Amino acid sequence: MEEQLLVILRQAEEKIAAAKAFHELNDLKSLFIGKKSELNDFMKKLGTLSPEERPAFGKKINDVKAAIEKVLEEAEARIKEEQYILALKSSQFDFTMPGRQIPIGSLHPLTMIQQQIEDIFISMGFQVAEGYDVEDDFHNFDALNTPKDHPSRNLADTFYIEKDVLLRTHTSTVQIRVMEKYKPPIKIIAPGRCYRNDKFDLTHSPVFHQVEGLVVDEDISFRDLSNTMDVFIKKMFGPDIKSRFRPHFFPFTEPSAEMDITCFSCAGKGCPTCKNSGWIEIAGAGMVDPNVFDIIGIDSERYTGFAFGFGIDRITMLKYRVPDIRMLFENYVNNG
Ligand code: PHE
Repeated sequence: MEEQLLVILRQAEEKIAAAKAFHELNDLKSLFIGKKSELNDFMKKLGTLSPEERPAFGKKINDVKAAIEKVLEEAEARIKEEQYILALKSSQFDFTMPGRQIPIGSLHPLTMIQQQIEDIFISMGFQVAEGYDVEDDFHNFDALNTPKDHPSRNLADTFYIEKDVLLRTHTSTVQIRVMEKYKPPIKIIAPGRCYRNDKFDLTHSPVFHQVEGLVVDEDISFRDLSNTMDVFIKKMFGPDIKSRFRPHFFPFTEPSAEMDITCFSCAGKGCPTCKNSGWIEIAGAGMVDPNVFDIIGIDSERYTGFAFGFGIDRITMLKYRVPDIRMLFENYVNNG
């Protein structure tokens, strides 16, 4: 009887291996392990065996049944795969055809310029600091030595959210945030958004971007400021670019200056970019007013410092010849 079982198994294996379709598998399944199968007949005959023989022979029948089930399962997977490949071969699709080009975006010009600015200052040993867009009067004005009646505090210039809470009008707030937290030596830049109650025009937007710089240590001089700025502009705009400082006023720096650079479009000869002056105004700067150190609790006898700030939007417009600041904030995508 054992041999007969093995013959059944061998036959089943052979036939199942030759099967090409699921319905054939179904037929083979009932033929070999179904109710009317030889295997089932053996099961029925178990009762005629002696109680000693019964368990061992029962197990053998079950083993053969399990083996046939496994072969059926494998055959099912094989047929599935064969049919899939057949479907691919006969389908209308050409899988080797190149796909349709999907246009991908690029970084916003403001982001690219900001990253360039950050890279240059990081290469000079600066760290990048961050502040808050929503600020209080103290960090935006008081701590920056700005008197209570200063015109920039006016509702016409500053967006107030509530009394004493406002959208920062410059990134100079980050000077104060950093000096509150860290002791000198300090060497940071702070890029970020700023807000002013300005009407949109070619060069003004109620939202714009600045980079603030602050260096505080012993023996920091105006010379350090001008050297730092000079390295920056040469790396940013080209090795032949020169700078000049004009006296100016900011409440938080003394002395204060505005910095111009020679026009990189015409090399100083005069063109529309520099409005024929040969110079482009690029930054506000100065030595940190000792009053600011006193307010924030840094020893103004021991430490000096310089600060500067410039507009990322302005630099982006100059470098990419963007004629209207609004173009930086529109969502028009040119896929052409
Ligand atoms: N905060 C000034 C502005 O917004 C720029 C500035 C920064 C000037 C640092 C001096 C020093 O115009």
